[in-house]
Amino acid sequence: MTISGKAKLAGVMGWPIGHSRSPRLHGYWLDQYGIDGAYVPLAVPPDRIEQAIRALPALGFRGCNVTVPHKEAAYRTVDRLDATARRMGAVNTIVVGEDGTLEGRNTDGFGFIENLRSGVPGWKASDGPALVIGAGGAARAVVASLLDEGAPRVWLVNRTRARADELAADIGGAIETADWVSRETLLEGATLVVNTTTQGMAGQPPLELDLRALPGSAVVTDIVYTPLMTPLLTAAQARGNRVVDGVGMLLHQARPGFAAWFGREPEVTEGLKAAVLQG
Ligand code: ATR
Repeated sequence: MTISGKAKLAGVMGWPIGHSRSPRLHGYWLDQYGIDGAYVPLAVPPDRIEQAIRALPALGFRGCNVTVPHKEAAYRTVDRLDATARRMGAVNTIVVGEDGTLEGRNTDGFGFIENLRSGVPGWKASDGPALVIGAGGAARAVVASLLDEGAPRVWLVNRTRARADELAADIGGAIETADWVSRETLLEGATLVVNTTTQGMAGQPPLELDLRALPGSAVVTDIVYTPLMTPLLTAAQARGNRVVDGVGMLLHQARPGFAAWFGREPEVTEGLKAAVLQG
């Protein structure tokens, strides 16, 4: 699509940025809705992130996404934080206000919950306890959003137990941490299992998790989406569990930013998913 001199501008700041699928994602929506706008990759090194974020209003940008390794720096740089970003200590979406001030939001948890809702119609966080595996940045959004949506309990296990304990202390609420070795025992009472580790990603070994004790009614999801069907999801599906792949979290987390910058609520469709996964 050709853009005019009045095009609405947004983008994604990261370092490196070449692997980001966000330009293709937002570009698909801009095309689909015939919006006069552009969403560009912005390769910003860590020592210039604050300067780059501060420059958004001067450049006339409506805002941007922020990805690895800049989410904490963005949290420290913006003028205002929404409640979720404050809780997370990280910002993935910046919206430039009419007055040129910068609002930091975090939509990763929204993306995670919306992906489950659309993948398993009728699914509710309040259905029962969730087992979350891993305690990195993504786990923080997953755990906080599950609790906010009414999960009665979240069991959190991580190879390095201390990181799980730290996450539980930061987020607060009904989180119980456990040792890595006890993860298979916890499956017995879980209605949802989430892998937030890098295990199962192309080039990495599969997550070691024998699903034998997991109830057949439980839902299994992975935030890894390369490949779409990770060894964990394949094993879960083979024994009859409902599974939700990870790319939907990426697609749904993008919705609030797009709506704020370009003025239209976008839809997550199979066409979008195919376009984002291509190449
Ligand atoms: P992010 O912040 O993007 O989520 P991260 O902080 O690097 O990424 O977290 C990666 C997660 O994968 C962590 O939970 C990590 O466990 P540790 O905290 O013990 O490092 C987990 N992980 C990475 N390699 C792993 C492995 N071989 N076995 C189990 N967990 C692993």
